[in-house]
Amino acid sequence: MALILAIESSCDDTSAAVLENDCVRSNLIAGQKVHEMYGGVVPELASRAHQENIVPVVDSALKAAGIKSSDLDAIAFTNGPGLLGSLLVGVSFAKSMAWAAGCPMVAVNHLEAHVLAHFLQQPGERKEVPEFPYLCLLVSGGHTQILKVCSPFHFETLGTTIDDAAGETIDKAAKIMGLPYPGGPVIDRLAQTGNPNAFRLAKPRIPDLNYSFSGLKTSFLYLVRDRLAENPDFITENQADLCACIQQAVVDTLLDKLIKAAEKHHIKDIAIGGGVSANSLLRNRLESCGREHGWRTFLPPFSYTTDNAAMVGIAGYFKWQRQDFCPLDTVPYTRQGR
Ligand code: KG4
Ligand code: ZN
Repeated sequence: MALILAIESSCDDTSAAVLENDCVRSNLIAGQKVHEMYGGVVPELASRAHQENIVPVVDSALKAAGIKSSDLDAIAFTNGPGLLGSLLVGVSFAKSMAWAAGCPMVAVNHLEAHVLAHFLQQPGERKEVPEFPYLCLLVSGGHTQILKVCSPFHFETLGTTIDDAAGETIDKAAKIMGLPYPGGPVIDRLAQTGNPNAFRLAKPRIPDLNYSFSGLKTSFLYLVRDRLAENPDFITENQADLCACIQQAVVDTLLDKLIKAAEKHHIKDIAIGGGVSANSLLRNRLESCGREHGWRTFLPPFSYTTDNAAMVGIAGYFKWQRQDFCPLDTVPYTRQGR
């Protein structure tokens, strides 16, 4: 039996979780309101907020799990990719705590953590998990990839964005409409009452299993700019339709390549992960695609879609099982580098 403390601090959420093997005993997240007024994450403010949050968040996670730091078998932490200043807070904290508690450390890749979140279990419940190899559409604020997950340690990138990420595109569309950051949840809510076919947006056409979202973003920007010139109230009068259109364009693009990947690789266990996997249209459409194509689909519970430490804990648990520990001089990395 392993008790693992996990720490996530790669962007603007400070999170700590305690896992007993693959089972979540606690998972706490402190968000950072400080970025709202800037319309995006300000890295320097993010690291300062992590410094303020990390001690109370870790403390609360241990208390909620009913354990002390001396009970821990390992400390897992996100080592990258992410914002350097943010990562440094979590990594430095994990190192000092592991040293003080005399337990080993496990370095976790943030993207792999999103992809492995499907293996998290809740106390008293055993849910179905994907079988290897499965496909995972990883859609977050900074990444859009189709991964073939061959084992918890072996990932093949089948497709990736050549420019913007899906979440970034949605966030930028929200910004163009003057909506608050992050735009994803707001667009998701407003789109519920909109007509997804009200406006025509450019659909990306690029080869292979790769994605491109910059053309869609520009097409949205030009649509809004041109219509605003004719009618200054264009955004307020058409907010729901605009949200529904951009959301549908992003989801169509994502699923189009995911279907191609599943067919090409003959894989029928299909998962999604990352912040955008909270999107209601993407979730509904994935389920209907699953029925149509005979897939088993895996949607993460909402609490494990956006950044959280429980997913770092499960990736850490897999590594702990093979005693894959890291030394005290481990340094974080900002870019993918898996
Ligand atoms: O995985 P995540 O929390 O952070 C990164 O690792 O980047 O993803 C954040 C992204 C943001 O772009 C946010 O707008 C998007 O996830 N997001 C959503 C929804 N909830 C969060 N996008 C669409 N619909 C949602 N319901
Ligand atoms: Zn993330």
